Amino acid sequence: MLELKNIHKSFGDVQVLDGVSLRLEKGFVYTLMGGNGSGKTTLINIISGFMKPDEGSVELKGKKIIQFLPFQVNRLGIGRTFQDLRLATQMTVYENILLALEKRKFAYPNKEQRQRVDEILETVSLSEKRNELAGEISYGQQKLLTIGCCIANNADMLLIDEPVAGIDKDNRLKIIQLIKQLKQEGKTILQIEHHPDYIKETSDYVLQMEKGVLC
Ligand SMILES: Nc1ncnc2c1ncn2[C@@H]1O[C@H](COP(=O)(O)OP(=O)(O)OP(=O)(O)O)[C@@H](O)[C@H]1O
Ligand SMILES: [Mg+2]
Repeated sequence: MLELKNIHKSFGDVQVLDGVSLRLEKGFVYTLMGGNGSGKTTLINIISGFMKPDEGSVELKGKKIIQFLPFQVNRLGIGRTFQDLRLATQMTVYENILLALEKRKFAYPNKEQRQRVDEILETVSLSEKRNELAGEISYGQQKLLTIGCCIANNADMLLIDEPVAGIDKDNRLKIIQLIKQLKQEGKTILQIEHHPDYIKETSDYVLQMEKGVLC
């Protein structure tokens, strides 16, 4: 499904990724652990087209993708969340999902698009929050909303950066169920997380990164 070969990335003199190779098979959930600053988010930034590696290749279903821009990578079937959420906090929950839909007409979403947003809101347990501002729902609900935005375009590979860090138990359990459901639908998931129960409940494989190297 996704293959990384010998990825290197430096910022100035600091080598952040030092030859990362990884193969992800369709339908499995992979969890990436590792210390602060070990390069986990940088790896997601590279896969999703937000950063270019200095060296190495990323192939999705056999197609090289590092030349593509983030929106093009998304259209090829890779969705992502951000560790710092990046929601449109002054827009409603509903509008945030609508914004994430490909080929939307924002002012006048058609019936099919409205139905799709409703479906996603249901999937991420936020139907009742649809008219609230994204900046005013709880942090756990904001994490659910970022996953909603990530799945909006039916990507079959999801990159999820710290989905349950700092959230309450109730929303953590919701996210566990959600990840299980997405896996059942056949999604391939690469997530970064440290929470032991969450990792145990959701992961097929656990990967450890230290100083830019997969151990
Ligand atoms: N755009 C950037 N410019 C310069 N340095 C960067 C940039 N992005 C990341 N870094 C540095 O690269 C290193 C790895 O960052 P990264 O965000 O990948 O770590 P991480 O493993 O996700 O850490 P955390 O667990 O804290 O989220 C850090 O030292 C960080 O400061
Ligand atoms: Mg990170």
